[in-house]
Amino acid sequence: MDKAIIAPNNPEWCSTRKRTRHHPLLRAALAFGLLVVCGYGGLFTDFQLTRSKTSSAKIPINAQQILQKCANLNVIPGPPPDFYSRTESDRYVAKTRPTLIKNATIWTGNVDGLEVVLGDLLLDRGIIQAVGQVPVNVLNAYDRGGLEIVDANGSWVSPGIVDLHSHLGDYSSPKLKGSDDTNSRKGLVQPWLRSLDSLNTHDDAYQLSIAGGVSTAVILPGSANAIGGQAFVIKLRPTEERSPSSMLLEPPFTFNGSGIKEVQPPRWRQLKQACGENPSRFYSGTRMDTIWAYRKGYEEARKLKVKQDAYCEKAAAGQWNALGDFPDDLKWEALVDVLRGKVKIQNHCYEAVDLDGIVRLTNEFKFPIAAFHHAHETYLVPELLKKAYGHTPAVALFATAARYKRESYRGSEFAPRILADQGIEVVMKSDHPVLNSRFLVYEAQQAHYYGLAANLALASVTSTPAKIMGQEHRIGYVRKGYDADIVLWDSHPLALGATPKQVFIDGVAQLKHPFVVPKSEALQHVPNTPDFEEETKAALEYDGLPPLEPKESVSETVIFENFDSLFLDLGDGVEQIFTSNGHEDEPQIAIVQNGKLSCIGTAGTCPSADLGVDPRIVDLHGGSLAPGLVSYGSPLGLVHILGEETTQDGEVFDGLTTKIPSILGGDSAVIRAVDGLQFTTRDALLAHRSGVSIGVTAPCSSSGVLAGLSTAFSTGAAHKLVKGAVVKDEAALHVSLSPSFSASVSTQIAMLRTMLDGGAGGELGVQVAKVLEGKMPLVIGVHSADIMASLIQLKSEIERTTGSIIKMTFAGGSEAHLLAKEIAAANVGVIIAPARSFPFFWDMRRILPGPPLTQQSAVSALLLNNVTVGVGVNFDESWAVRNTRFDVSWAALQAGGEISKAEAISLASSNLEKLLGLSPGTVASNLVATSGGTILDVESKVVAVASAKRGVVDLF
Ligand SMILES: *[C@@H]1O[C@H](CO)[C@@H](O)[C@H](O)[C@H]1NC(C)=O
Ligand SMILES: *[C@@H]1O[C@H](CO)[C@@H](O)[C@H](O)[C@H]1NC(C)=O
Ligand SMILES: *[C@@H]1O[C@H](CO)[C@@H](O)[C@H](O)[C@H]1NC(C)=O
Ligand SMILES: *[C@@H]1O[C@H](CO)[C@@H](O)[C@H](O)[C@H]1NC(C)=O
Repeated sequence: MDKAIIAPNNPEWCSTRKRTRHHPLLRAALAFGLLVVCGYGGLFTDFQLTRSKTSSAKIPINAQQILQKCANLNVIPGPPPDFYSRTESDRYVAKTRPTLIKNATIWTGNVDGLEVVLGDLLLDRGIIQAVGQVPVNVLNAYDRGGLEIVDANGSWVSPGIVDLHSHLGDYSSPKLKGSDDTNSRKGLVQPWLRSLDSLNTHDDAYQLSIAGGVSTAVILPGSANAIGGQAFVIKLRPTEERSPSSMLLEPPFTFNGSGIKEVQPPRWRQLKQACGENPSRFYSGTRMDTIWAYRKGYEEARKLKVKQDAYCEKAAAGQWNALGDFPDDLKWEALVDVLRGKVKIQNHCYEAVDLDGIVRLTNEFKFPIAAFHHAHETYLVPELLKKAYGHTPAVALFATAARYKRESYRGSEFAPRILADQGIEVVMKSDHPVLNSRFLVYEAQQAHYYGLAANLALASVTSTPAKIMGQEHRIGYVRKGYDADIVLWDSHPLALGATPKQVFIDGVAQLKHPFVVPKSEALQHVPNTPDFEEETKAALEYDGLPPLEPKESVSETVIFENFDSLFLDLGDGVEQIFTSNGHEDEPQIAIVQNGKLSCIGTAGTCPSADLGVDPRIVDLHGGSLAPGLVSYGSPLGLVHILGEETTQDGEVFDGLTTKIPSILGGDSAVIRAVDGLQFTTRDALLAHRSGVSIGVTAPCSSSGVLAGLSTAFSTGAAHKLVKGAVVKDEAALHVSLSPSFSASVSTQIAMLRTMLDGGAGGELGVQVAKVLEGKMPLVIGVHSADIMASLIQLKSEIERTTGSIIKMTFAGGSEAHLLAKEIAAANVGVIIAPARSFPFFWDMRRILPGPPLTQQSAVSALLLNNVTVGVGVNFDESWAVRNTRFDVSWAALQAGGEISKAEAISLASSNLEKLLGLSPGTVASNLVATSGGTILDVESKVVAVASAKRGVVDLF
């Protein structure tokens, strides 16, 4: 893994600074794995056993074997010739009932991902027996009673989702001491390590990822090492044997010693490599040390290969005298196989400097790279990639996760499209658990939104990764004879919110009682994508750092016309004011003056008198107007680059375990986030141009209870002193409770009790008084239902003894659904963050995952109980703020018709206004104009943001 995941218990997450040992720091490494293969067998013998007339050598009794081994040394891996005529999979689970899926719309992956077949699918013996028309004679051979029939009613079907970069099992969830098995700290170059040896079968995420359609993943060692070890391909489903080994897909025959029949041709091996910051950091070295470590390792392998080849040459010539044993070395054999072209190298590598180093290495030692992973600068250097030895590496990317370290600072959402335009293969990957691989198709959806063609976007999570890992002969396509890994979707898989109705792996249905959400006809098609030509060009022109400020900020009159829907917060939460239905009395225009909405109506009803000389007209092409969104949860506005301490505000002191300097007021000090605000961070500007007008950010405290006072600021403001930059200096008082902190949870609650019960003096006493007067919310970062229960008791205890009414908000809330009724009764609000819960830690493990696993999700279950719900972002993911509109859209789509569009928007606007103590009217003061759809649609684009407080309309 690459990114740091810091204790998500604490929505006031902060920097990498002053992290305590109690502060779980997840680091996965992105390298690729190399497997041990020593192909031999009788099939490919070029060498003949000859008796040299001139030599009276003693021929060893295993001479034939040696010659075969020699003959097979350079055989390139692949399926055996009879593979394509197989009628049963080696992974077939005995007694699995054959399944006929009728009337499906099948994206096959064929014809460059452009083929769609309407028809049926027959799955049997672990493989796809027929696609499209199932021949009558084939069907007749089945006893109809034994055949499972699924009527797809025209639903979309795709191959199982394939993840080229995952740490499932070797970084398992929830995280416990034993679960970080990704990185060895014992050396920079360790090709002899194997991710299989770390593969825990009890990762909660297997079932969750399957529920997102993921059937196959490459499990990579971490990125702490230059060469982190060999990677293995697994299928995610549970096996009868319940062992890691039984999960493997086509492991090289040496994976379990000599116990398995050698196969010919050999199978592909995988190796993880990593360059740049991670190996430097873990080994206190520099880039120079890392590249030298590579060269030293590869030189070792090269010498061994030369010895082997010389040995085989002699053996072939019958010069057996004193020939001895075949030269081999368990430590270096995997790298020798790299040099023999038998290994898929998955190479974590971000920046031009590192990509260049690896490309030179490939040419020095003559081996190809399968894919560069993360690879945030690859789109800037396509010609460099094309110089790699053998072939151009594929590029495996995140869609929008970037700027978390220097190496990803120039990352671009347009990279997939730019690389594809260069003819370079693009893969979207999860780096699970860095991104929850359950939502890998969401990465493809975003890549498509930002310009990657639909056929390539679907291929990027199916056939392309299958090819890059060397498994395209059996997975990644819906083809006769391929593994029966199939996803039946509730919408087009590139439509936002696409959710499996059923997932088959090796022909076995994985979802016992899937909850299927009805989806509209509109979601059954490939979404249209907005025009991002200009932005795409700018990304290249500005070397990855295009200006993100609006093209223009105007205070004169702007008239929006041709919109199809209008959402407004008229003081009682967001409402949908109208949807285009052809009525005459619909508003036709919206007039904004000085950034403030002044009239909605028709040209006739809105006075044209004072429009100024030359009002701007903005045609929204059937788009929409909606209140600006609010984001909470990340350190937005306090951090430019998460991994760089000098680019951020830093962390507050933890008063429970350290002594706070008396010059600050000792332990009654209260830190205000407003004092640390940094404007124009790229994440804030991207948020702004994605419809998030206001960021609410608390001081960073990743390991202490008391964070301080949050502030609300305009994401689009140039600096703190411009009008409207700070929306509210002090919004809420923030604390966090977490078992990851060094003091016990009960100690943390005791501190809170003391604080609320008159124990706080000085500045803290002043702020607590506001909380007790109900003037300022108390926002508590908490995931565990047990801790929430204690907090609900504490609230009523304090309210009873002081006669006050506390406005309390839980932020995080992974387990809040377990107490939905009690939370509602206690009048506590909940901000669900991350938006789609994931069991990162023990206190977050009892999530309500939502369809297809459960009918309700965390958000919908709380709403059903009339809890005020907000949706936030993960504690360290400022990059994700821009996706807020899609996050709330996902929440609504998961709930079927239960959450209206207006309610979805309110989850990240008016509800957060309430839960975070913003003044009434704050949300209403911003208006976002989208063209081509509403702010919730993956087809629309934000074209303008009006801000009454700033007095301008920003035009993008
Ligand atoms: C197809 O429609 C039938 C009848 O409405 C329904 O029972 C079945 O679940 C549907 N199948 C799928 C895969 O949605
Ligand atoms: C397939 O399903 C669609 C949607 O339910 C239906 O309109 C169509 O008639 C079905 N086609 C066949 C061949 O059953
Ligand atoms: C090694 O793995 C193969 C393939 O899964 C299996 O057939 C064989 O029994 C295993 N050998 C041992 C000794 O476990
Ligand atoms: C939620 O509020 C609605 C409308 O006031 C009410 O009908 C419903 O019973 C409430 N639900 C619960 C679980 O209290």
